[in-house]
Amino acid sequence: MQPPHDDHPHVPGPSLWPVGFAIGVVVLLVGLIVSWYIAVVGAILALVFGFLWVRDLAAGTALTQAEEVAPETSAAPRVDDAGLPPEDPAERYPRNKFLEFSTIGLGAVIGGIVAAPALGFMVAPAFLKQGEKDIDIGPLSDYPEGKFIVTTFTSVPRQGVVSRRTAFVRYNGPLNGLPSFTIISNHCAHLGCPVQPNTKVPDKHILFKDVTLIPLPTPPSGFSCPCHGGAYDIEGNRTAGPPVRALDRYSFSIRNGHLFLEAPFSVARVDGTGGTARIHKYAFSYPGEHIDGPESWLYPIQPPH
Ligand code: FES
Repeated sequence: MQPPHDDHPHVPGPSLWPVGFAIGVVVLLVGLIVSWYIAVVGAILALVFGFLWVRDLAAGTALTQAEEVAPETSAAPRVDDAGLPPEDPAERYPRNKFLEFSTIGLGAVIGGIVAAPALGFMVAPAFLKQGEKDIDIGPLSDYPEGKFIVTTFTSVPRQGVVSRRTAFVRYNGPLNGLPSFTIISNHCAHLGCPVQPNTKVPDKHILFKDVTLIPLPTPPSGFSCPCHGGAYDIEGNRTAGPPVRALDRYSFSIRNGHLFLEAPFSVARVDGTGGTARIHKYAFSYPGEHIDGPESWLYPIQPPH
C-alpha cells in the first residue's frame, strides 16, 4: 500500500519573487507609454525577478521529486523483466509541475499578445521611411551671408496651402569648406503659434517656384510670439514667456547649388552663434513638450512626424 505523501509539500514555499516580477511588468508597461528609460528599468526588474522565481520553482520541483521517488513500504518491491522497478507515469511529469509551467506559459502568451501590437506601433515606424520629400527653397545666391531670409514654402504639396510653413534662414558663410546655414522654424515652442522676427518685415519678396523669400533689411534682435508673449534670442533660445525650449530647426542639404530643407528637429538650447554654435538637438517633438531633463520623462514617445 502506498504511504500518504502529505508530509512533503508539492510546491515551493512562499516567495516574494512573483511580486517583484509583477512590479517589473507593471513598470515596463507604464514605461512603454511614458519613457523608454522607465521601460528598460521595468524590463530589467521583470527579467531578474522572473529568473529568480523560475529558479525557485525548479529547485522546489526537484526537491519534491527527490523525496517522492523513494517511498517507504514494507511490501516487496515490484520489478520488471530486467529486474528494475517499473516507472510510475505520474512521477515522470508531476501535476504540480505541469500546472506551474502551464500557468507561466499562459501568462507569457497573454503578455506577448498584449505587448506585441503596442511595441509594433511604437517601434516599427522608426524603421520605415516616413515624412515628405525634401523641399528645394532656391539657389544659394538668394541667401546672402549674415542676412535672415523669411522663407515660406509648401511642406506637403498634396495638402496644398494648409501645409504652408515658414522658416528663418540665415547663411553663416562657409564652415570647413561647406556652406553653413541656420534654419529656424517659426512654430512657437509653447503652443505652436507663428513667431515673428523682432524687426520690420518688408513687403518686397522674391519668388522661387512657390517659395516666397523675404530678405530682412536689418537683422532682428530675436523672435517674439504674439500669442502668450514667448520670446527667443537670435539663435532661437527661449529668453522669456511660457515656451519650454528653443525654437525647432530644419536639417538641410545642398544639391546642385540649391538649398534643400530636410526633416525638422527640436532643440533644447543653442550655445554660441552662427556656424560654430553647439546645437542641443533632439527628435522632433510637439510644442509644449520638454525634451531634456526629468520633465521630458513625463511625455510619451512620439511616432515620427
Ligand atoms: S504659443 Fe507662443 S507663447 Fe504661447
